[in-house]
Amino acid sequence: MGSMNRRKFIDILFFGSLVGTISSLSYPIIRYLLPPKKAGGAVNSVVAARVDEVPPNSYKIFKFGSAPGILINTPQGELRAFSAVCTHLSCNVTYDAQAENIYCPCHNGRFDLNGNVLAGPPPKPLEQYEVKISGQEVIVSRRA
Ligand code: FES
Repeated sequence: MGSMNRRKFIDILFFGSLVGTISSLSYPIIRYLLPPKKAGGAVNSVVAARVDEVPPNSYKIFKFGSAPGILINTPQGELRAFSAVCTHLSCNVTYDAQAENIYCPCHNGRFDLNGNVLAGPPPKPLEQYEVKISGQEVIVSRRA
């Protein structure tokens, strides 16, 4: 009788740990399969800056969801926004105010102020976003 009880006890322990193992293994799979929650999902529009933060021939890096964006005020005073992730190997680009173009320091990639490749290894243009001004806020949106 005593050994039966112990056997049962061991069975319960084993079953319990099996359930624990299976659920801990399957949790990431289930989480992967389920659609992501709204919060933290893709962002389509953000307030990138206040208008007075970016005088002509300057820039600001802003967060567009989980990726960086770059807002540029051209020397002519036109606001433009792009993904700041280089299309070569995903380094972050910056604005070169002297050369008046966008620069990737990793492999000397250069883009013009329309996001097109000027020099270096980037294979395609930077993704360009729409820019709107609402009061004092610069709103950047993904193109539809
Ligand atoms: S990652 Fe930008 S040029 Fe290579």
